[in-house]
Amino acid sequence: KKVGVLVSGRGSNLQALIDAIVADPTFPAEIVLVISNVAGAYALERAAKAGIPTRTIPHKGFPSREAFDDAMDRELRAAGVEIVCLAGFMRLLSTAFTQGWAGRMINIHPALLPSFKGLHTHQRALEAGVKLHGCTVHLVTPELDDGPILVQAAVPVLPDDDSDTLAARVLEQEHRAYPLALRLVAEGKVTVDGPRAHVDAPGN
Ligand code: GRF
Repeated sequence: KKVGVLVSGRGSNLQALIDAIVADPTFPAEIVLVISNVAGAYALERAAKAGIPTRTIPHKGFPSREAFDDAMDRELRAAGVEIVCLAGFMRLLSTAFTQGWAGRMINIHPALLPSFKGLHTHQRALEAGVKLHGCTVHLVTPELDDGPILVQAAVPVLPDDDSDTLAARVLEQEHRAYPLALRLVAEGKVTVDGPRAHVDAPGN
């Protein structure tokens, strides 16, 4: 399956996807396009190093969210993209765009959803005093950080953690969870039943 990845920053999850694909010649997906809304994002360098075409589409140049999303949509479809991965993409998406990719767009969120939607998840987890934290890969729906859950990984919150140490522990799991989730979607092993995704794989 042809995959497009949307990024805004560092791109370590993009790198995890690239590495998983390179490591396994039978991986059922290839990244054909990386789009950043931020010029100079390090993720773009990672893509270029891997020989993946990139586009920078600065959102500020558009009169509305819908117009920006349409520009991305056109690039994705022109590249033949079948699955979209959000990997540290820091823009809300319009309902039209999310509906156009329903069931074929996934996001990684650095918390165990439905807890801690939105930003600053690690700090908020520390403040809440939870003992388990983690990451979630889910199908994207119009609501932010909502949508059927595909893969989660949990980590302990340790007594001496600050948001950086906790973020690093979660990030390690993100880099495992995201390639796994992409594989499941690309292999057609996911079926959606209302708010729930059924994943046809061992352990689910
Ligand atoms: C990750 O923590 C991801 O879960 C969140 O934004 C961060 C992006 O990091 N959505 P990177 O750009 O993939 O390194």
